[in-house]
Amino acid sequence: MMEVLIPILVMCSIASGLAVLLAVADKYIASYGECKLIINKDTEITVEGGDTLLSYLIDNEIYMPSACGGKGTCGYCKLKVLEGGGTVLPTETPFLTKHDIAQAVRLACQVKVKKDVELGIPDDLLAAQQFKTVIEIIEDLTHDIKRIVFKLIDPEKIEFKAGQYVQFCIPETTEYRAYSVASQPSIADRIELMIRHIPGGLCSGYVHECLEEGDEIFLTGAYGDFYLREESTKDIICVAGGCGMAPIRSIVKHLHEKGSTRKITYFFGARQKRDLFCTEELRAIEKEFPNFKYIPALSEPISEDDWDGEVGLITATMQKHMKHDENQEAYLCGPPPMLEAAVKVLTAKGVSKSDIYYDEF
Ligand SMILES: Cc1cc2nc3c(=O)[nH]c(=O)nc-3n(C[C@H](O)[C@H](O)[C@H](O)COP(=O)(O)OP(=O)(O)OC[C@H]3O[C@@H](n4cnc5c(N)ncnc54)[C@H](O)[C@@H]3O)c2cc1C
Ligand code: FES
Repeated sequence: MMEVLIPILVMCSIASGLAVLLAVADKYIASYGECKLIINKDTEITVEGGDTLLSYLIDNEIYMPSACGGKGTCGYCKLKVLEGGGTVLPTETPFLTKHDIAQAVRLACQVKVKKDVELGIPDDLLAAQQFKTVIEIIEDLTHDIKRIVFKLIDPEKIEFKAGQYVQFCIPETTEYRAYSVASQPSIADRIELMIRHIPGGLCSGYVHECLEEGDEIFLTGAYGDFYLREESTKDIICVAGGCGMAPIRSIVKHLHEKGSTRKITYFFGARQKRDLFCTEELRAIEKEFPNFKYIPALSEPISEDDWDGEVGLITATMQKHMKHDENQEAYLCGPPPMLEAAVKVLTAKGVSKSDIYYDEF
């Protein structure tokens, strides 16, 4: 048995050693000369080949979304590589659907530039900017969620749609994380985020343990297809849990400011009373804005909570309060299992799948 295994093991170590050597040689020795990045057929950027598309785009102030520092583990940095990108790599396939591959979609952090490359980048991504900001306020919303207010320094104003997100650049790293904007678009000179502490988390750990008022932080954005469809006249169902509050708060405050006549029902799921936040603010909006209703539910209230509101999963509360009506659209934000269960209730209540928008986190 050992006589068979030893040559195989030797071959494997030689092969992996060669692969490492080739990768090192490719990085430090190979020279690809000047390469052109041609974007949407109208913009050309000349780079010295050898690095990834993502690095060149960020160097040239094209702020592609990226939540893993280019490690190929978040799948955010998608764009179309129409020419010159080579074959799709095994590191990309977990993030690409068959439709993506047919449309030449690739992960910018995995495509190395070795010759001229033709790219298709949506206009909204090209419009994303980097913002130098200063931290104005940090406050606790719950035992594990902080509200952070960033004052924009350069540029001084941001345009975004209620529901979209920005990326937080973690100081002294090349890593970014996505956070939904919790403030409404009319506040253009500040960005509010709500950030939950994930134990061991790089960014949320930094925010909860190191970030201080007065610190300078870079944000990029705005991004995302999860935003309020303003042209619609349908009634609105919002469903959120945890920091899913952030984009829904932005949507509700925006609709309130605009004096929308659409009926809005907001279901918020939390475990215990200590996980509820923004309650007074939402109750105040409810008083001024009769077409808005806020319905929180606690899944595991404890006796000290003295809770006389809805108890159980948020989906049970939706089931109880929602009427069957096709004239509704829904905005959902929270962990994937909650979203999955909420979609089932919504479709059973007549909401078309094409009228359900969601962000998972
Ligand atoms: C569009 C979008 C909007 C988002 N908006 C918000 C927001 O408004 N507020 C907010 O707090 N977060 C939000 N997130 C999540 C956020 O981007 C980060 O993923 C989160 O803060 C964790 O980053 P980290 O660097 O602290 O943890 P990492 O260093 O990335 O992860 C550390 C460990 O924690 C695990 N982990 C990561 N996320 C979670 C999680 N949610 N629950 C349990 N374990 C986890 C990872 O698998 C890893 O093992 C959003 C995500 C997306 C995609
Ligand atoms: S940046 Fe995360 S997959 Fe490309």
